[in-house]
Amino acid sequence: MPQALVSQSSATGAAALSVQAATMSWPVPDTHGPLQAAIEPDSLPPLRVGLLGLGNVGAGTLAVLRRNQTEIARRLGRHIEVTHVCARNLARAVALAGPGVQVLADPLAVVTHPDVDVVVEAIGGTGPVLHWVLQAIASGKHVVTANKALLAEHGHQVFAAAQARGTVVAFEGAVAVSIPIIKMLREGLGANHITAVAGIVNGTSNFILSAMRTSLSFQAALQQAQALGYAEADPSFDVNGVDAAHKLTLLASVAFGMPLRLAQVYTEGIGQLLPADMACAEALGYRIKLLAQARRHTQGVELHVYPALVPTTHPLAAVEGSLNGIAVYSDAAGPTLHCGAGAGGEQTASAVIADLMDIARLGHIPPTSPTQRVAMMGFQPWAMQDLPVLPMAELRTRHFVRVPVGSNPHALGVVAATLAQTGVATQSLGWAPVPGAASDATRAQAGPASCVVGLTGLASDHNMQQALAAIQALRQVNGPVSHLRVAELE
Ligand SMILES: NC(=O)c1ccc[n+]([C@@H]2O[C@H](COP(=O)([O-])OP(=O)(O)OC[C@H]3O[C@@H](n4cnc5c(N)ncnc54)[C@H](OP(=O)(O)O)[C@@H]3O)[C@@H](O)[C@H]2O)c1
Repeated sequence: MPQALVSQSSATGAAALSVQAATMSWPVPDTHGPLQAAIEPDSLPPLRVGLLGLGNVGAGTLAVLRRNQTEIARRLGRHIEVTHVCARNLARAVALAGPGVQVLADPLAVVTHPDVDVVVEAIGGTGPVLHWVLQAIASGKHVVTANKALLAEHGHQVFAAAQARGTVVAFEGAVAVSIPIIKMLREGLGANHITAVAGIVNGTSNFILSAMRTSLSFQAALQQAQALGYAEADPSFDVNGVDAAHKLTLLASVAFGMPLRLAQVYTEGIGQLLPADMACAEALGYRIKLLAQARRHTQGVELHVYPALVPTTHPLAAVEGSLNGIAVYSDAAGPTLHCGAGAGGEQTASAVIADLMDIARLGHIPPTSPTQRVAMMGFQPWAMQDLPVLPMAELRTRHFVRVPVGSNPHALGVVAATLAQTGVATQSLGWAPVPGAASDATRAQAGPASCVVGLTGLASDHNMQQALAAIQALRQVNGPVSHLRVAELE
């Protein structure tokens, strides 16, 4: 009887609710029931979606829209319908899209089609996709995309075009997949002065780092990620930090109201890390995470992505496997932590559809009224501030070093003295055996029997680079020195 209950409550309003209250049970709608029950007769017509690409994200969006159509319409009071699909593999697309959906091979035909209100771009890349997105905007369509590379590289052009044309470009799925971090920064924390954002925003690299803690080498962990479908055939953007830099560019812009500054994000990946680094960091009470961090100072903004030592007591240290986690620091709300799936078609679809729902709610708002809707980047375009990005050399953190020195008994003192001579204070320094030295091919090449391991005090990156060069040149050092920064999180 759930269907009857829904119809009754929408037809008779308060009377139906009071009947339910008397029996102490709320109506439980059948989420797979007919849609009419969720829609008022005078509601807006369906929002018509043109979907570009039917890969993980595109097919996931189609599947979730279909499965949850009643639940979505109950929230929205309006339907969202995929009316047009563009794909390369047309036979597969026809089979997936089903009856009533037009399948086209030409993206331009979809983005300019008069029967499409909003384009979901789920192809990826920055080549022809930029042209299709700009054409969609020029044709008066709203655009939803999960394409962080496109927006981090060409966002100025895309958002300016949308602003001028009075359409919306929404991108929740581009940053943290299932975590609604853009909505959180833009709306939920809209009353705050946001001071910092620190996040694990690449599920593939986080999976690899978690696997390396079980003594797998980087290559073995990467192969495991690929076998489980977490890593692309070409995982370079994931492991070299570029994907995280794309996401940080968007996060910083939305958090601080500054322009997109991809070229100024200092970026290091995880390819150089060894299981021994993970083990030594753990022994010191830290876990290594690829962290994307943006921090606001009076003089400007820090923007960087690098593998960092996170205290094992910090909640971000517990974000393991392919999960994403983001800590936001703001003056009124205080620190908040957001965690969720860092990859996946349906997980991204959740964000894409939430964006579609926001667009569906715009309803009759005139397209030229940006102050009457949530600004695309969180701040009104004319209120963006061109905050300077601070040079990496000036960044002050503590540093982790692991110096392979064989069995030389004087090495500890020599490393300590070298740090002191270059003006870097030592917090702790000691001997560490090299776990798995006999079995790790990379380590066998370097040949150390033991290492000097420790943490420095706060030092600028410039000073630390000088200290590292001096340590590497010591005759007691018989392999590459590992260096990582400590995440100075609140
Ligand atoms: N997968 C995730 O977990 C995830 C998470 C967040 C964001 N994203 C972003 O979402 C976007 C899509 O990612 P994805 O994982 O869904 O990629 P994908 O699985 O590779 O899907 C891309 C789709 O686009 C289609 N395509 C490529 N060129 C086309 C063209 N000229 N015309 C029509 N269709 C074309 C491909 O068709 P064929 O199959 O026929 O080649 C494929 O189905 C990317 O920007 C990605 O960064 C993905």
